[in-house]
Amino acid sequence: MSAGQRPGQAAHPAQVAPAQVAPAHVAIIMDGNGRWAQLRGLPRQEGHRRGLEALRGTVRNAGELGIRVLTLYSFSTENWRRPATEVSFLLGLLKRFVEKDLGELHAAGVRVRVIGGRDDLAPDLRRMVEHAEAVTRDNDGMTLVVAFNYGSRDEIVRVARQLATDAAAGRIEATAIDEAMLALRLDTAGLPDPELVIRTSGETRISNFLLWQAAYAEFVFTPVLWPDFDRAAFEAALAEYGRRERRFGGLAEPSGRAAGAA
Ligand code: IPE
Ligand code: IPE
Ligand code: MG
Repeated sequence: MSAGQRPGQAAHPAQVAPAQVAPAHVAIIMDGNGRWAQLRGLPRQEGHRRGLEALRGTVRNAGELGIRVLTLYSFSTENWRRPATEVSFLLGLLKRFVEKDLGELHAAGVRVRVIGGRDDLAPDLRRMVEHAEAVTRDNDGMTLVVAFNYGSRDEIVRVARQLATDAAAGRIEATAIDEAMLALRLDTAGLPDPELVIRTSGETRISNFLLWQAAYAEFVFTPVLWPDFDRAAFEAALAEYGRRERRFGGLAEPSGRAAGAA
C-alpha cells in the first residue's frame, strides 16, 4: 500500500470489463404488463397481449445480437395466485404463441426448451410443451428457454426429492452429491448459467427465478415496462453488462479481467 492510500483501496483502480464480450445466456424477468395497461386505462389483458409482441421482438433481437441462450420468465409458480380469469388468459396466450410461432421458430433454427414443473400442468398444455421441444430438439440456432410454471425453489425441491429417492434406493451415495450432480438434475441441465439477468418494470427483486443458476449473474434492472422493451432497451442492458467487472470471488487484475474467471 503506497502513502496516502486508504486501507481497502485498490492499488490498481479496477478497470471495466470489455463491452465486446457478449453474454452467451441472457435471462429476462418480463415484468410490467399490468402497469403498462393501467397507465393507458386499458385492461391488464391488453398489457399481456402487448407483452407477447415484446417477447416476439426480443427473441428476434436476441438471435441477431448473437445470444446463444435466451431464457424468458413467462409464468411463475406464484402466478397461480392471480385471479382465475387472468391465469386462464395468460395460459391461452402461451398456447397461441406456441401454436402460431413454433413453425417460424423452427424454421429459424431455434431450439425450444421449457423449464418449470410439468406434473401439475393440464394434459393439453403438457403435450404442447413436449411437442415444441421434440420438434425443435435438433436445431442448432439459439436456444429459447421458456420458464413456465417455474419457481426456483420448486425446481430445487424436485431435485432434492429425486436425489433422496436415489440415495435411499442405493443408486447413488449421499456423499457423492456435489454441485455438478445437482445442476445436472435441474430443469436447466446442460445449459450454461446466465451471465446476465434483466428485469423490466423497475422492480429490483428476483421473484424465485433461477436462484441457483444466477449465483454469479450480473443483474440489470430497467424501469422500462415489458411491452416497451425494444431493441434499444435490450442493447442498453447489454452495454450496462459490458461495463460490469466480474470477479467470481477472485481479485480484479490490472488488466480488468477477473482472476479465475472462465
Ligand atoms: C408480467 O407482467 C407478466 C407476468 C408476470 C405473467 P405483470 O402482469 O406482472 O405486470 P405488473 O407487474 O402487474 O405491472
Ligand atoms: C415475476 O413477475 C414472474 C414473471 C415475470 C413471470 P411477478 O410480477 O409475478 O413478480 P412479483 O410478484 O412482482 O414479485
Ligand atoms: Mg409483475
